[in-house]
Order: sequence, then structure tokens, then C-alpha cells
Amino acid sequence: MKLAMIGSGYVGLCTGIGFAAKGHDVTCVDTDAPKVSMINRGEVPFYEKGLQENLRKFLRKKTFRAKVGMRDVPAVDAVFVCVGTPADKKGRIDLSYVAAAAQETGNYLASIPSYCVVVVKSTVVPGTTESVVVPALEKHSGKKIGQFGVCSSPEFLKEGKALDDFMHPNYVVIGESDKKSGNVLKKLYAGFRAPVIRTNIRTAEMIKYAANAFLATKISFINEIGNMCRQRGIDAYTVADAIGNDKRIGRLFLDAGCGFGGSCFTKDLSALISSADAYDPRLLEEVLQLNIRQRKRIVDMLKGKMQLKNKRIAVLGLSFKPDTDDIRDAAAVDVIQYLRDEGAQVVAYDPKAMENTRKVHPDITYADSAREALAGADACLILTEWDEFKKLGEKDFASMKNRIIVEGRRVLSGVAGSEGICW
Ligand code: UGA
Repeated sequence: MKLAMIGSGYVGLCTGIGFAAKGHDVTCVDTDAPKVSMINRGEVPFYEKGLQENLRKFLRKKTFRAKVGMRDVPAVDAVFVCVGTPADKKGRIDLSYVAAAAQETGNYLASIPSYCVVVVKSTVVPGTTESVVVPALEKHSGKKIGQFGVCSSPEFLKEGKALDDFMHPNYVVIGESDKKSGNVLKKLYAGFRAPVIRTNIRTAEMIKYAANAFLATKISFINEIGNMCRQRGIDAYTVADAIGNDKRIGRLFLDAGCGFGGSCFTKDLSALISSADAYDPRLLEEVLQLNIRQRKRIVDMLKGKMQLKNKRIAVLGLSFKPDTDDIRDAAAVDVIQYLRDEGAQVVAYDPKAMENTRKVHPDITYADSAREALAGADACLILTEWDEFKKLGEKDFASMKNRIIVEGRRVLSGVAGSEGICW
């Protein structure tokens, strides 16, 4: 099939390259001309495992290209809306990119005679496709829904594993305005070995939020249990390993620590909560609050052991999770701020995320290695479970001034003086 992705960010590019790998012809569209040139040169504007090699492969095969705007894209079978849905200052969803993409798609629909399905992949609160996207498509195309198709098909890609998640989804959701629209997507997903859930559009939109809200809740749940474990000298990981054997619970997403970060969980939970109008979703509010407290908690643990003013604190791990340079909503960004508020001197190290962190915290010291950060440090915090930190041993910590190590992620084994936030 011929496909277009509007928005060549993380979701658009991963989905586009994924569909190219499945044998489809894909055009990724963006408003950012330098970004489009970069993609056409075979360079991915962010780090994601395997993406660059595949981009180059399909550029060479001429089954993939990027363009500025939809204007000269030949008629496609489906347009995927993959633009960002950031949070505004109050945590509500900002739909300005979605509205602009819908307008552009409407203009495009006006220019092609063939049937085309518009698929919303951007994460939007339930009701958005019907109340914002469809009216814009009808207005700018001069056509009525039915003359073109509309679907919602949320993505469940994890950073660092996006291509693999695309190729091997746990399930595929098709929210359809009518059977004809949904059938186009069903055909597109026919090559995937995954259950397909066909439903209406607003249910599909809610499925995405329910999935992220559940995962975030699981993490805050185990952090709550972990905080109580720690007070009683109990290892939260032994508890998680045990209850994880129960199929109703499952072991995944029960790693206690300094909480969740990244571009999705906090943003999506805030958007869902603020869209709830006549209902007060207190459980989800507490999931977010506990996550914020977890970041303070690790600094409070240090404060309980020492004065932080003018002390050298090594922070190992800056990205929101390993194998990415992404620091969006990363625990480290807040933790460093709290340390600085206490007058501490922060020396940070991360294998990939220092360049991004420098933009937010330009005034701290950055080390070239974990060992360099640890040299002369009064204390150390570990905030991302990078593989290279798992290899740190006694001799790496030997040059610390004081042996105070608090792990926000469980990475060390048997290093004297280390303790965990929840264990
Ligand atoms: C998350 C979801 O896992 C994807 O399914 C979803 O598609 C994506 O959001 C999205 O909405 O776009 P991602 O943000 O890439 O994916 O990251 P995760 O691997 O889910 O990790 C999120 C955070 O939770 C990380 O900071 C991680 O360290 C933390 N986490 C995860 C824990 O603290 N404990 C765990 O047991 C698992």
C-alpha cells in the first residue's frame, strides 16, 4: 500500500520505517525542512536502535522518502497523523499540532480523487478524533466522512525497542468510523501475528491511555510497597519476584526505584486526568504524586546522612531509562535541581545523555566516565540502570571521599556502602 506519515518525529519515523520494512511505500512528511533533508540523507534526528540502518536501506530501495508538506505526495491509501501532543502548562493536552495536521490532511484529501483513510496515531484524549480531526477534515476537504475513511490506531512503541515492538506487537487496535475504513487497516496489519481489536474510535483512544495509566500505576504501586519494605528491612525485589509469578500480576514493570520518566507516562496521565471533567480520578492523581515524591525521597535520604551544602555529589545516569539519550521527564533532571537547591556541587556522568542534560543544567560538572565522577565524591546517586553501571565494582568506588551510595535503580551487586531507595 502507499502510505504517508504526517509528523516525522519518533512515532512517525519508527512507524514509517516499520511499514517500509513490511513492504509498503512510505512518505514521511514534516514542516521542518532541515529535518526532512537530514532524513533524506539517511540520518535519524534521534537515537533509536536499528532505525538508521533501516532508513538507509529503504531510501536506497526508493520505498521511503521524506517531504516538506503533503502538497506533492501522490495519492496514498492511508495518511497517518503522527504529530506530538505535548502538555500545556496546566498538564492539559495541546492539540495545536493535531489540528494543523488535520487541516493539511483535509487539503490533501481535496486534491486526490481516490478513497483514503486518515489514521490518528498521535495519542489524543478520547473524543478528540471525532470532535477535532473529523470536522477539520470535512471543512478543508469539502468532502463528508464516508467519502474518506477515519480510524484511530494508537501506538505502543517503547523507546529503544521501537522497531521490534512495531514488528512484534502484543496487540493491534483499530478504532474505526465505519467497516470500510477499518478494513483498510485490517489489510495493512494482516502480516502481523497479533490479536486485532476492532472497535469504535473513542474506545481505541481510551485503550492507549488505559495501557499507559496501568503501567505507570504498576510502577507507583511497587514504589509504595518498596518504600514500606525499606523501612522494615525487606527487599522489594524479592517481593516483586514472588508476586510476579502470579499470572494475574506479572513480574514486568515491578522494578521499584526513583520512579517513571520519559515523554509519555506523566504527560498522558496528566492529559487523561484533566480531560475527566465531571469525574475526579484520584487513583491516577496519586500515581503521579507518588512519582514526584520518589524523586524528592532519594535526595531526602542523602540529607538524612549528611549536609549537602558544598558537597560533591556524583550522579550516575541522566536519561529516563537506559539505551537512550532522552532526558524528557527524567528523574535525574529534578534530582539534580533538588541537589543544587541544597547547595551541593553535582558531578554527572551518563554514557549518552550528557549533551541533552547540559542544555537544562549547564552549570554542573560533567565527567568523562563513572570513575571520574566518583573521584573525591562525598556521595553518589545512581538514577539510570545502564549496563556499564552494573559492571562497577569496589575499585571504581575506592576513590570516593565518603562511601555513601544510594541507588535509585537496582544496578550494583555487593558494593559496600550501597543502599537502595526501596530496598
Ligand atoms: C512507554 C510504554 O511502555 C509504551 O508501551 C508506550 O508506547 C510509550 O510509553 C508511549 O506512550 O509512547 P517508554 O516511555 O519508551 O514507553 O518507556 P518505558 O520502557 O515504558 O519506561 C518508562 C519509565 O518507567 C522509565 O523511566 C523506566 O525506568 C520506568 N520503569 C519501568 C520503572 O521505574 N520500573 C519498571 O519496572 C519499569
